Amino acid sequence: MSNFNVAVLISGNGSNLQAIIDKFQKDEFVNVSCVISNKKDAYGLVRAEKANIDHYFIDNKNFSSREEFEQTIINVLDKYEPNLVVLAGFMRILSELFVNKYKNKLINIHPSLLPKYKGLDTHRKVLENQDDYHGVTVHFVDNTLDGGPILAQKRTLVETQDIKELEEKIHELEHKIYPEVINDIAQKQIYVLNGKVIKENNDE
Ligand code: GRF
Repeated sequence: MSNFNVAVLISGNGSNLQAIIDKFQKDEFVNVSCVISNKKDAYGLVRAEKANIDHYFIDNKNFSSREEFEQTIINVLDKYEPNLVVLAGFMRILSELFVNKYKNKLINIHPSLLPKYKGLDTHRKVLENQDDYHGVTVHFVDNTLDGGPILAQKRTLVETQDIKELEEKIHELEHKIYPEVINDIAQKQIYVLNGKVIKENNDE
């Protein structure tokens, strides 16, 4: 059986990328084949380098349109034939060109219990609204901000008013759930049938 190739798109620190690298480093089936960043100084590129994973910096500022930028990413990805494209802190909205190309193969992680709190500053919003629960969502990507069918969520009680502490707790959840969902997709435990997300071992 050929490998299940995962490509990861980042813009920053890449702690989720690191969790994914760690999970699959010795995996015989799932292979993190390349990392692409639209930011030159993204620490995630260093993480990829350290893990011996092909990595690329593609500056969105060098392109006059979103589509040209995305086509350049696609041209790189095509070399790796990814089974899954994983957005891990990639801070660009993707157009239909990209989203359609990777339909049902493009996932994102977002630090909120979607559909609550799309966009930035989710931890602050949770604290301001005195929510009892906060959490993370992994979803397929459509071409709306933080939109698309939900694959998995994890929630946690809000037990602090300290935004940094809350963020750390959310990161811990992210680092657990994202590799798990990627593995479930690779193992066909999660898939799309007739436009519906099917989860084989739905233990929620
Ligand atoms: C994470 O909080 C993720 O949910 C959001 O961007 C952040 C990326 O963090 N989409 P990192 O770069 O993986 O550390």
